[in-house]
Amino acid sequence: MLDVRAFDVDRASDAEWDELHELQFSVYRLEFPERPALTRQETISALRAPQVQAGEQLVWTAYRDGRLVARAIVNLPADGNRHLAVVRIQVRPEVRRQGIGTEFLRTVEAMLRDRGRTQVEGWNLTLGGPGERWAQRLGFRFVHTTVLQILELGDVDRGRWEVAVPSGYRLVRWIGAAPDDLVEAFAKARAAIGDAPLGESELGAVEWTADRVRRVEASYRERDIEHRTVVAVDPGGEVVGLTQMEVRPLMRERLRQGDTAVLAAHRGHRLGLAMKAAMLRWFTADRVDAAQVWTATGAGNTHMIEVNHRLGFSTERAFSVVSRSL
Ligand SMILES: CC(C)(COP(=O)(O)OP(=O)(O)OC[C@H]1O[C@@H](n2cnc3c(N)ncnc32)[C@H](O)[C@@H]1OP(=O)(O)O)[C@@H](O)C(=O)NCCC(=O)NCCS
Repeated sequence: MLDVRAFDVDRASDAEWDELHELQFSVYRLEFPERPALTRQETISALRAPQVQAGEQLVWTAYRDGRLVARAIVNLPADGNRHLAVVRIQVRPEVRRQGIGTEFLRTVEAMLRDRGRTQVEGWNLTLGGPGERWAQRLGFRFVHTTVLQILELGDVDRGRWEVAVPSGYRLVRWIGAAPDDLVEAFAKARAAIGDAPLGESELGAVEWTADRVRRVEASYRERDIEHRTVVAVDPGGEVVGLTQMEVRPLMRERLRQGDTAVLAAHRGHRLGLAMKAAMLRWFTADRVDAAQVWTATGAGNTHMIEVNHRLGFSTERAFSVVSRSL
């Protein structure tokens, strides 16, 4: 019988962080043997400064005989995706194949049903890894593949980022809150990310409004995440493209690329490349302690992947996305 407890990222004691980190450390070792070991700071930073746009985050830990054996992180997206919950379960390697993952998932799913969610998805499952086989056994469907791309800032030829802005457009940038005179046009442009291929994932297009933009900005502020935006504006004052990047407290060395999107009518002018290049020049000039940029995108999103290669990113890994009705 598992003892499932809510884990409070803002009030957890040092001892609770120690045991959670120990679990995540050993799972990371197994899943990413080629990467440097996960640090305690990374564990804390990732949970305290979650992916804001993925919605409310819940964390649960599972104990057996007083020992932490698994943890689950759940995101509850809002604004057009209230049917969905995204779940990430990790079981301590030495106690796998004992039914812990399955029992934990059932408990978590009951709590998600209580919150009115009807679909559950798992993202970032290592291709060919245990998570895929486990999910398959539990009746999940494979719906999408994503890739992780990393840019090593120490090695990259920054000349790749000298990209001219296509004529007729100008770039506008900000840290934190969008300027009042652009926020409506910006919210409208954000809907363009809904065109990014998501396979058969149940994650639908987000309903972007100025209100959601302001709520998301407030969440970034609360979590002390520096969040920057570069947009492309056409002569009529419309926002026709955007790209975002962030840096989290306790993880200064890693910049995280956020959404990039160009409105359909303005594609094919290298606006995506120009905006991303401008973002890289700007962010790295101020953040000299940054060592890497991480980004994830759909495996079928060949244009975005190619833009990233031009800027110096390498494709590191592919992951699968699985989905099941609750
Ligand atoms: C996936 C994971 C959570 C499974 O936890 P677990 O407690 O070992 O899983 P269970 O014991 O409940 O497995 C139930 C069934 O799934 C299948 N399964 C689980 N792991 C498997 C593996 N490595 N290979 C083949 N089948 C596997 C089996 O059919 C198993 O039943 P069996 O042992 O009687 O054959 C765990 O391996 C893990 O933490 N992996 C890394 C993170 C991850 O990928 N999480 C899933 C994303 S949400």
